[in-house]
Amino acid sequence: MIDKLKEIKKQIIEFEIKTTEDLNKFKSYFLVKKGVINDFWLLIKKDATVDKSVFGKKINEIKNLASEKYQKNIFLLETKSSKKEIDLSLSSHMSSLGGRHPLSKINNKIISIFNKIGFSIVNDREIEDDWHNFTALNLEENHPARDMQDTFFVTKDKNILLRTHTSSVQVRHMTKNKPPIKIISPGRVFRNETVSYRSNCFFHQIEGLYIDENVSFSDLKKTIDYFIKSFFGEKTKTRFRPSFFPFTEPSAEVDVYWGLESESDYKITKGTGWLEIMGCGMVDPNVLENCNIDSKKYSGFAFGMGIERIAMLKYQINDLRLFFDNDLRFLKQFN
Ligand code: PHE
Repeated sequence: MIDKLKEIKKQIIEFEIKTTEDLNKFKSYFLVKKGVINDFWLLIKKDATVDKSVFGKKINEIKNLASEKYQKNIFLLETKSSKKEIDLSLSSHMSSLGGRHPLSKINNKIISIFNKIGFSIVNDREIEDDWHNFTALNLEENHPARDMQDTFFVTKDKNILLRTHTSSVQVRHMTKNKPPIKIISPGRVFRNETVSYRSNCFFHQIEGLYIDENVSFSDLKKTIDYFIKSFFGEKTKTRFRPSFFPFTEPSAEVDVYWGLESESDYKITKGTGWLEIMGCGMVDPNVLENCNIDSKKYSGFAFGMGIERIAMLKYQINDLRLFFDNDLRFLKQFN
Protein backbone atom coordinates (compact mmCIF):
# COMPACT_ATOMS: atom_id res chain seq x y z
CA MET A 1 0.00 0.00 0.00
CA ILE A 2 2.87 2.28 0.78
CA ASP A 3 4.11 1.85 -2.79
CA LYS A 4 0.71 2.68 -4.14
CA LEU A 5 0.67 5.89 -2.12
CA LYS A 6 4.12 6.82 -3.41
CA GLU A 7 2.88 6.21 -6.94
CA ILE A 8 -0.08 8.56 -6.40
CA LYS A 9 2.23 11.22 -4.95
CA LYS A 10 4.39 10.98 -8.05
CA GLN A 11 1.33 11.26 -10.29
CA ILE A 12 0.20 14.38 -8.43
CA ILE A 13 3.59 16.03 -8.81
CA GLU A 14 3.92 15.14 -12.47
CA PHE A 15 0.38 16.01 -13.52
CA GLU A 16 0.59 18.89 -15.98
CA ILE A 17 -2.09 21.54 -15.62
CA LYS A 18 -2.16 23.98 -18.51
CA THR A 19 -5.83 24.53 -19.13
CA THR A 20 -9.03 24.58 -17.09
CA GLU A 21 -9.80 21.23 -18.66
CA ASP A 22 -6.58 19.82 -17.15
CA LEU A 23 -7.54 21.38 -13.86
CA ASN A 24 -10.95 19.71 -13.88
CA LYS A 25 -9.39 16.36 -14.79
CA PHE A 26 -6.93 16.75 -11.92
CA LYS A 27 -9.77 17.48 -9.54
CA SER A 28 -11.95 14.57 -10.60
CA TYR A 29 -9.07 12.13 -10.52
CA PHE A 30 -7.56 13.08 -7.16
CA LEU A 31 -9.90 15.22 -5.17
CA VAL A 32 -13.55 14.23 -5.53
CA LYS A 33 -15.25 11.92 -3.07
CA LYS A 34 -14.76 8.93 -5.30
CA GLY A 35 -11.24 9.94 -6.39
CA VAL A 36 -8.11 7.82 -6.01
CA ILE A 37 -7.04 9.34 -2.71
CA ASN A 38 -10.32 8.73 -0.92
CA ASP A 39 -10.20 5.13 -2.11
CA PHE A 40 -7.34 4.59 0.36
CA TRP A 41 -9.66 5.19 3.31
CA LEU A 42 -11.78 2.27 2.15
CA LEU A 43 -8.68 0.11 1.80
CA ILE A 44 -7.52 0.94 5.33
CA LYS A 45 -10.91 0.12 6.68
CA LYS A 46 -10.96 -3.30 5.03
CA ASP A 47 -7.37 -4.24 5.86
CA ALA A 48 -6.94 -5.06 9.54
CA THR A 49 -3.17 -5.37 9.28
CA VAL A 50 -2.41 -1.75 8.50
CA ASP A 51 -1.64 0.81 11.14
CA LYS A 52 -4.50 3.24 10.60
CA SER A 53 -2.94 6.23 12.34
CA VAL A 54 0.29 6.00 10.30
CA PHE A 55 -1.50 5.49 6.99
CA GLY A 56 -4.18 8.00 7.75
CA LYS A 57 -1.50 10.63 8.20
CA LYS A 58 0.10 9.69 4.88
CA ILE A 59 -3.23 9.83 3.04
CA ASN A 60 -3.93 13.30 4.47
CA GLU A 61 -0.49 14.50 3.44
CA ILE A 62 -1.12 13.41 -0.12
CA LYS A 63 -4.58 14.90 -0.12
CA ASN A 64 -3.16 18.23 1.07
CA LEU A 65 -0.52 18.08 -1.61
CA ALA A 66 -3.19 17.57 -4.28
CA SER A 67 -5.49 20.29 -3.03
CA GLU A 68 -2.61 22.76 -2.69
CA LYS A 69 -1.62 22.09 -6.27
CA TYR A 70 -5.26 22.46 -7.29
CA GLN A 71 -5.67 25.86 -5.56
CA LYS A 72 -2.39 27.13 -6.88
CA ASN A 73 -3.36 26.28 -10.43
CA ILE A 74 -6.79 27.90 -10.14
CA PHE A 75 -4.97 31.13 -9.28
CA LEU A 76 -2.42 30.73 -12.06
CA LEU A 77 -5.06 30.07 -14.72
CA GLU A 78 -7.16 32.99 -13.55
CA THR A 79 -4.32 35.50 -13.74
CA LYS A 80 -3.31 34.11 -17.13
CA SER A 81 -6.79 34.61 -18.59
CA SER A 82 -7.27 38.08 -17.11
CA LYS A 83 -3.94 39.12 -18.62
CA LYS A 84 -5.24 38.11 -22.01
CA GLU A 85 -8.23 40.42 -21.63
CA ILE A 86 -6.12 43.53 -21.06
CA ASP A 87 -6.11 45.63 -24.21
CA LEU A 88 -2.78 47.44 -24.17
CA SER A 89 -3.87 49.80 -26.92
CA LEU A 90 -6.52 51.35 -24.67
CA SER A 91 -5.88 54.73 -23.08
CA SER A 92 -5.05 54.66 -19.40
CA HIS A 93 -7.31 57.67 -18.79
CA MET A 94 -11.06 57.69 -18.68
CA SER A 95 -12.10 60.30 -21.18
CA SER A 96 -14.41 62.80 -19.55
CA LEU A 97 -17.54 64.09 -21.22
CA GLY A 98 -17.57 67.71 -22.29
CA GLY A 99 -20.26 70.18 -21.40
CA ARG A 100 -21.77 73.28 -22.92
CA HIS A 101 -19.77 76.48 -22.75
CA PRO A 102 -21.33 78.91 -20.24
CA LEU A 103 -21.89 81.44 -23.04
CA SER A 104 -23.82 78.87 -25.08
CA LYS A 105 -25.92 78.06 -22.05
CA ILE A 106 -26.82 81.71 -21.52
CA ASN A 107 -27.41 82.19 -25.22
CA ASN A 108 -29.80 79.21 -25.39
CA LYS A 109 -31.64 80.34 -22.30
CA ILE A 110 -32.20 83.86 -23.64
CA ILE A 111 -33.35 82.49 -26.97
CA SER A 112 -35.86 80.16 -25.34
CA ILE A 113 -37.29 83.02 -23.23
CA PHE A 114 -37.93 85.10 -26.34
CA ASN A 115 -39.15 82.09 -28.33
CA LYS A 116 -41.93 81.71 -25.78
CA ILE A 117 -43.37 85.09 -26.70
CA GLY A 118 -43.15 84.57 -30.42
CA PHE A 119 -39.69 85.84 -31.45
CA SER A 120 -38.05 83.67 -34.07
CA ILE A 121 -34.30 83.38 -34.67
CA VAL A 122 -32.60 84.95 -37.68
CA ASN A 123 -28.90 84.52 -38.44
CA ASP A 124 -26.76 86.23 -41.04
CA ARG A 125 -23.18 87.02 -42.07
CA GLU A 126 -20.35 88.26 -39.81
CA ILE A 127 -18.56 90.10 -42.62
CA GLU A 128 -20.82 92.99 -43.57
CA ASP A 129 -20.88 96.04 -45.77
CA ASP A 130 -21.05 99.60 -44.55
CA TRP A 131 -24.69 100.05 -45.57
CA HIS A 132 -26.13 97.20 -43.47
CA ASN A 133 -23.91 97.78 -40.45
CA PHE A 134 -23.99 101.60 -40.36
CA THR A 135 -25.62 103.73 -43.03
CA ALA A 136 -29.06 102.08 -43.08
CA LEU A 137 -29.11 102.51 -39.31
CA ASN A 138 -28.79 106.30 -39.51
CA LEU A 139 -25.04 106.16 -39.00
CA GLU A 140 -23.93 107.97 -42.10
CA GLU A 141 -20.29 108.34 -43.00
CA ASN A 142 -18.50 110.63 -40.51
CA HIS A 143 -21.36 110.33 -38.01
CA PRO A 144 -19.71 110.79 -34.60
CA ALA A 145 -21.68 107.87 -33.14
CA ARG A 146 -19.64 105.51 -35.31
CA ASP A 147 -16.91 106.05 -32.75
CA MET A 148 -19.02 104.13 -30.22
CA GLN A 149 -18.29 101.02 -32.23
CA ASP A 150 -14.61 101.02 -33.21
CA THR A 151 -14.47 98.91 -36.30
CA PHE A 152 -12.25 96.27 -37.89
CA PHE A 153 -12.26 96.98 -41.62
CA VAL A 154 -11.70 94.23 -44.15
CA THR A 155 -11.11 96.40 -47.23
CA LYS A 156 -9.05 99.56 -47.58
CA ASP A 157 -12.03 101.61 -48.77
CA LYS A 158 -13.69 100.70 -45.45
CA ASN A 159 -16.78 99.38 -47.21
CA ILE A 160 -16.40 95.78 -46.02
CA LEU A 161 -16.01 95.25 -42.29
CA LEU A 162 -16.56 92.83 -39.42
CA ARG A 163 -20.03 93.58 -38.10
CA THR A 164 -19.98 95.62 -34.91
CA HIS A 165 -23.48 94.54 -33.87
CA THR A 166 -26.17 92.15 -35.06
CA SER A 167 -28.44 95.09 -35.95
CA SER A 168 -27.10 94.45 -39.45
CA VAL A 169 -29.07 91.19 -39.46
CA GLN A 170 -32.22 93.16 -38.69
CA VAL A 171 -31.58 95.54 -41.57
CA ARG A 172 -31.20 92.61 -43.96
CA HIS A 173 -34.35 90.98 -42.60
CA MET A 174 -36.45 94.16 -42.81
CA THR A 175 -35.51 94.79 -46.43
CA LYS A 176 -36.58 91.27 -47.39
CA ASN A 177 -39.73 90.85 -45.26
CA LYS A 178 -42.99 92.67 -44.61
CA PRO A 179 -44.25 93.39 -41.06
CA PRO A 180 -45.26 91.95 -38.70
CA ILE A 181 -41.62 91.16 -37.92
CA LYS A 182 -40.69 89.61 -34.58
CA ILE A 183 -37.12 88.34 -34.55
CA ILE A 184 -34.02 87.91 -32.44
CA SER A 185 -30.58 87.71 -33.99
CA PRO A 186 -27.87 86.07 -31.91
CA GLY A 187 -24.26 86.10 -33.04
CA ARG A 188 -20.66 87.15 -32.73
CA VAL A 189 -19.68 90.78 -33.17
CA PHE A 190 -16.33 92.54 -33.40
CA ARG A 191 -14.98 95.82 -32.06
CA ASN A 192 -11.51 97.24 -32.10
CA GLU A 193 -11.29 97.60 -28.34
CA THR A 194 -8.49 97.07 -25.86
CA VAL A 195 -8.85 93.71 -24.18
CA SER A 196 -9.50 94.05 -20.45
CA TYR A 197 -11.53 92.45 -17.68
CA ARG A 198 -14.67 94.21 -18.96
CA SER A 199 -14.24 94.33 -22.75
CA ASN A 200 -12.90 92.20 -25.56
CA CYS A 201 -12.30 92.66 -29.29
CA PHE A 202 -15.10 90.23 -30.06
CA PHE A 203 -18.12 89.22 -28.06
CA HIS A 204 -21.65 87.88 -28.50
CA GLN A 205 -24.94 89.70 -28.81
CA ILE A 206 -28.61 88.99 -29.07
CA GLU A 207 -30.59 91.74 -30.68
CA GLY A 208 -34.37 91.81 -30.96
CA LEU A 209 -36.78 93.57 -33.30
CA TYR A 210 -40.55 93.87 -33.30
CA ILE A 211 -42.32 95.80 -36.08
CA ASP A 212 -46.06 95.95 -36.50
CA GLU A 213 -48.93 98.44 -36.47
CA ASN A 214 -49.26 100.39 -33.21
CA VAL A 215 -46.22 99.05 -31.40
CA SER A 216 -45.45 101.40 -28.52
CA PHE A 217 -42.75 102.08 -25.93
CA SER A 218 -44.86 100.35 -23.29
CA ASP A 219 -44.72 97.15 -25.39
CA LEU A 220 -40.95 97.48 -25.29
CA LYS A 221 -40.88 97.98 -21.52
CA LYS A 222 -43.17 95.04 -20.93
CA THR A 223 -41.10 92.77 -23.15
CA ILE A 224 -37.82 93.72 -21.44
CA ASP A 225 -39.38 93.39 -18.02
CA TYR A 226 -40.70 89.92 -18.91
CA PHE A 227 -37.23 88.93 -20.11
CA ILE A 228 -35.33 90.16 -17.06
CA LYS A 229 -37.77 88.57 -14.62
CA SER A 230 -37.71 85.26 -16.50
CA PHE A 231 -33.93 85.27 -16.67
CA PHE A 232 -32.75 86.71 -13.36
CA GLY A 233 -35.81 86.06 -11.17
CA GLU A 234 -38.90 87.95 -10.13
CA LYS A 235 -37.12 90.13 -7.58
CA THR A 236 -34.34 91.49 -9.81
CA LYS A 237 -33.89 95.24 -9.55
CA THR A 238 -33.91 96.90 -12.98
CA ARG A 239 -33.89 100.44 -14.26
CA PHE A 240 -34.46 102.16 -17.61
CA ARG A 241 -32.15 105.11 -18.30
CA PRO A 242 -32.69 107.56 -21.17
CA SER A 243 -29.91 107.14 -23.72
CA PHE A 244 -29.02 107.72 -27.33
CA PHE A 245 -28.67 105.42 -30.32
CA PRO A 246 -28.82 106.79 -33.87
CA PHE A 247 -31.23 104.05 -34.95
CA THR A 248 -33.81 104.39 -32.15
CA GLU A 249 -35.84 107.32 -30.88
CA PRO A 250 -36.50 107.50 -27.98
CA SER A 251 -33.68 105.31 -26.72
CA ALA A 252 -32.92 103.78 -23.35
CA GLU A 253 -30.38 101.65 -21.58
CA VAL A 254 -31.39 98.94 -19.14
CA ASP A 255 -29.38 98.31 -15.98
CA VAL A 256 -29.54 95.41 -13.54
CA TYR A 257 -28.41 95.81 -9.93
CA TRP A 258 -25.10 94.00 -9.37
CA GLY A 259 -24.24 95.11 -5.85
CA LEU A 260 -21.63 97.32 -4.27
CA GLU A 261 -20.00 95.31 -1.53
CA SER A 262 -16.50 94.38 -2.67
CA GLU A 263 -13.74 96.27 -4.40
CA SER A 264 -14.39 94.36 -7.61
CA ASP A 265 -18.08 95.38 -7.46
CA TYR A 266 -16.88 98.99 -7.48
CA LYS A 267 -14.59 98.33 -10.41
CA ILE A 268 -17.13 96.50 -12.52
CA THR A 269 -20.00 98.89 -11.91
CA LYS A 270 -17.81 102.00 -11.96
CA GLY A 271 -18.91 102.69 -8.43
CA THR A 272 -22.65 102.75 -9.16
CA GLY A 273 -23.68 99.20 -8.22
CA TRP A 274 -25.53 98.98 -11.54
CA LEU A 275 -24.45 97.10 -14.63
CA GLU A 276 -25.74 98.04 -18.03
CA ILE A 277 -27.05 95.00 -19.87
CA MET A 278 -28.79 96.31 -22.95
CA GLY A 279 -29.66 99.19 -25.20
CA CYS A 280 -33.13 99.60 -26.62
CA GLY A 281 -35.62 102.02 -28.13
CA MET A 282 -38.28 102.68 -30.73
CA VAL A 283 -36.93 102.09 -34.23
CA ASP A 284 -36.27 105.45 -35.90
CA PRO A 285 -38.76 106.03 -38.80
CA ASN A 286 -35.78 106.81 -41.03
CA VAL A 287 -34.42 103.30 -40.49
CA LEU A 288 -37.78 101.79 -41.41
CA GLU A 289 -37.87 103.87 -44.60
CA ASN A 290 -34.26 102.84 -45.44
CA CYS A 291 -35.52 99.26 -45.34
CA ASN A 292 -38.64 99.98 -47.45
CA ILE A 293 -41.09 99.79 -44.57
CA ASP A 294 -43.85 102.41 -44.43
CA SER A 295 -43.08 104.35 -41.25
CA LYS A 296 -46.54 105.94 -41.22
CA LYS A 297 -48.21 102.58 -40.99
CA TYR A 298 -45.70 100.68 -38.92
CA SER A 299 -43.69 101.26 -35.78
CA GLY A 300 -41.52 99.01 -33.71
CA PHE A 301 -38.93 98.54 -31.04
CA ALA A 302 -35.43 97.10 -31.00
CA PHE A 303 -33.08 95.99 -28.27
CA GLY A 304 -29.59 94.57 -28.09
CA MET A 305 -27.58 92.90 -25.34
CA GLY A 306 -24.14 91.40 -24.80
CA ILE A 307 -24.15 87.74 -23.76
CA GLU A 308 -20.84 87.95 -21.86
CA ARG A 309 -22.09 90.76 -19.68
CA ILE A 310 -25.23 88.84 -18.81
CA ALA A 311 -23.24 85.68 -18.11
CA MET A 312 -20.99 87.70 -15.76
CA LEU A 313 -24.01 88.91 -13.87
CA LYS A 314 -25.68 85.54 -13.71
CA TYR A 315 -22.58 83.65 -12.55
CA GLN A 316 -20.92 86.53 -10.64
CA ILE A 317 -17.79 86.43 -12.78
CA ASN A 318 -15.58 89.50 -12.61
CA ASP A 319 -13.28 88.98 -15.60
CA LEU A 320 -14.72 88.66 -19.07
CA ARG A 321 -11.52 87.15 -20.47
CA LEU A 322 -12.18 83.90 -18.57
CA PHE A 323 -14.84 83.02 -21.15
CA PHE A 324 -12.27 82.91 -23.93
CA ASP A 325 -9.28 81.24 -22.25
CA ASN A 326 -10.87 77.78 -22.42
CA ASP A 327 -9.28 76.83 -19.13
CA LEU A 328 -10.99 73.58 -18.17
CA ARG A 329 -10.80 74.44 -14.46
CA PHE A 330 -13.06 77.39 -15.20
CA LEU A 331 -15.35 75.68 -17.72
CA LYS A 332 -15.94 72.55 -15.62
CA GLN A 333 -17.76 74.61 -13.00
CA PHE A 334 -20.67 75.04 -15.39
CA ASN A 335 -21.25 71.33 -16.18
N1 PHE B 1 -26.88 97.82 -31.61
C1 PHE B 1 -26.64 98.38 -30.31
C2 PHE B 1 -25.22 98.03 -29.86
O1 PHE B 1 -24.66 97.13 -30.38
C3 PHE B 1 -27.60 97.89 -29.29
C4 PHE B 1 -28.99 98.34 -29.56
C5 PHE B 1 -29.84 97.58 -30.33
C6 PHE B 1 -29.44 99.53 -29.04
C7 PHE B 1 -31.12 98.01 -30.59
C8 PHE B 1 -30.72 99.97 -29.26
C9 PHE B 1 -31.55 99.20 -30.03
O2 PHE B 1 -24.69 98.69 -28.99
